[in-house]
Amino acid sequence: MKSLFSAFVAPVETELRTVYRTEENAGGQTVRRKIRFFRPDYKFVRNDTESELIVSALNVHIKDNHILKDVNLTIPEKKITCIIGPSGCGKTTLLKTLNRLTDSVEGVKITGKIFINGEDIINSGSEITRIRRKMGLISQRPCPLPMSIFDNVAYGCRIHGIRNRRKLRMIVKHYLDAAGLWDEVKDRLRTPAVRLSIGQQQRLCLARSLAVEPQFILADEATSALDPISSKIIEELFVKLKQNYSIVMVTHTLRQALRIADHVVFMYLGEIIETGSADYVFNNPQHELTKKYLSGAFS
Ligand SMILES: Nc1ncnc2c1ncn2[C@@H]1O[C@H](COP(=O)(O)OP(=O)(O)OP(=O)(O)O)[C@@H](O)[C@H]1O
Ligand SMILES: [Mg+2]
Repeated sequence: MKSLFSAFVAPVETELRTVYRTEENAGGQTVRRKIRFFRPDYKFVRNDTESELIVSALNVHIKDNHILKDVNLTIPEKKITCIIGPSGCGKTTLLKTLNRLTDSVEGVKITGKIFINGEDIINSGSEITRIRRKMGLISQRPCPLPMSIFDNVAYGCRIHGIRNRRKLRMIVKHYLDAAGLWDEVKDRLRTPAVRLSIGQQQRLCLARSLAVEPQFILADEATSALDPISSKIIEELFVKLKQNYSIVMVTHTLRQALRIADHVVFMYLGEIIETGSADYVFNNPQHELTKKYLSGAFS
């Protein structure tokens, strides 16, 4: 397990792979030309590869309401974990607590531990921006920044001190590609992001999140505001992205969870009722509540 300090690295100054090619110039002389290219596996912002997320005895109270009750959970690495459960059971609250977005809620009291790569983000006095950097959060409604497509993706990198224009161009291309949007926007990178369709905006938000190289992608009903084709694109992207990220997604759609979940967490009234591999939970649910929920008895 990495220490608190080695888990994050300062922005890297040089990261392009450099190779040399020998070729003839116009005068017939042999010259050695330097070629620099982008390594798709390169991490511009961070270099840690572990993504361990463990929630232990987590309780969240908001004023007099006990919202999350003794939640214990291990998020499997590089898999899609779907959080399912009826409306109001605490799915969003759990996701927001992982990102410490609940901190700003009035009257909130959080006890328990959330370990990210061994660091307890609730009790260790960790700096919030450093924690959030590890988590790309995709919400229900895409919220592009009021700037161009290019600047949306470059935004986080600029904050991390990457100023080199060529480098930024490579990063923007790479992550728009990863979010399945490059071909659709490559000729209008300077147009305002709000001109994109809602489905494209959601992919842009995904690209923006990926550009700061999080370890986790947290998605709260990320496809519920999208048309079926855009939803399918996002689903397929998640399946592709799990090679490199641990994905935690809240979904209302059981069919979506059936399609893409590797791991399932079923919640009810703030508690985790059942959790396990998707295959196991869907085909062999142990708890009566899970059986009822999966059979559609309540939603
Ligand atoms: N800021 C708040 N103040 C008071 N209660 C809140 C607050 N935020 C959430 N809650 C309550 O916490 C409970 C869980 O809410 P949460 O939004 O996490 O549920 P959810 O499972 O995401 O529901 P949905 O499927 O409808 O999105 C609900 O009873 C909700 O009313
Ligand atoms: Mg919710």
